[in-house]
Amino acid sequence: MKFIVLSDLHMTRPGELLAGLDPALRLEMAIDRINAAHGDADLVVLAGDLTDRARTLAYEELRRALGRLVPSWAATLGNHDNRDVFGRVFGSGSLDENGFAQSAHRAGGETVLLLDSLEKGPGSGGWGLGSGRLCALRLDWLRRELERAGGAPVHVVLHHPVLQVSPVPDPYLLEQPEEFLSILDGYPDIRGVTAGHIHMATTTLRRGIPYHTIAGGHATTREEFGPGAGRVRLEGPGQMAVVISDEERTVLHFDNYVDHHPVLDT
Ligand SMILES: [Fe+2]
Ligand SMILES: [Fe+2]
Repeated sequence: MKFIVLSDLHMTRPGELLAGLDPALRLEMAIDRINAAHGDADLVVLAGDLTDRARTLAYEELRRALGRLVPSWAATLGNHDNRDVFGRVFGSGSLDENGFAQSAHRAGGETVLLLDSLEKGPGSGGWGLGSGRLCALRLDWLRRELERAGGAPVHVVLHHPVLQVSPVPDPYLLEQPEEFLSILDGYPDIRGVTAGHIHMATTTLRRGIPYHTIAGGHATTREEFGPGAGRVRLEGPGQMAVVISDEERTVLHFDNYVDHHPVLDT
């Protein structure tokens, strides 16, 4: 199977810039790239932070733009999203029976599971907590879907990274990930766990399972590894994951669709 992961689009209301960047324009570039190079993908998944401030107009702008995407698509949510607003704009079919943006997709004998790690923040109108959660309902759904996959290859996508990747502790990852990790450890063929949120391209191998993060659609984060450890925020490369997988192997390309590097002649 082949699938694409877009993340951290941080869509705004029409015409509104975010840190000097135009999220709608960058999404158009992503869609152009997918339609031109990856029209054969079985699926495009959106790994949360669909919008920056969970505005209805931003979700509507996203829905309009996705109308010209060639492959089919599915979305989950991030800490900058609001489940109620998302559900109103995209319809009740965009949420599962428990009201979460979780879905399972099968192609070529493999399964992609999209998990919803958004936890509501204080107040009803705003967006979520910085860190992510998978409650008992969401973890039970994962167990059921893994059971259904029956040992065949499974790919997991969610917004919040599960593992620490920085030299300094990051408090905004998936909270209490032990149960989630042990569910994955108990399945024979997890091909990868892909997340966004930290706006950074990384890969971590843990107990035979690769955990990836991608830079996503808006800003990227550069880790400073020197004595003044910290992170610097830069214009992002507009980075999606392109996952190509068969019985034998799974490849993840970090495919950049906003790339200012010149093409070289030789
Ligand atoms: Fe984000
Ligand atoms: Fe996020």
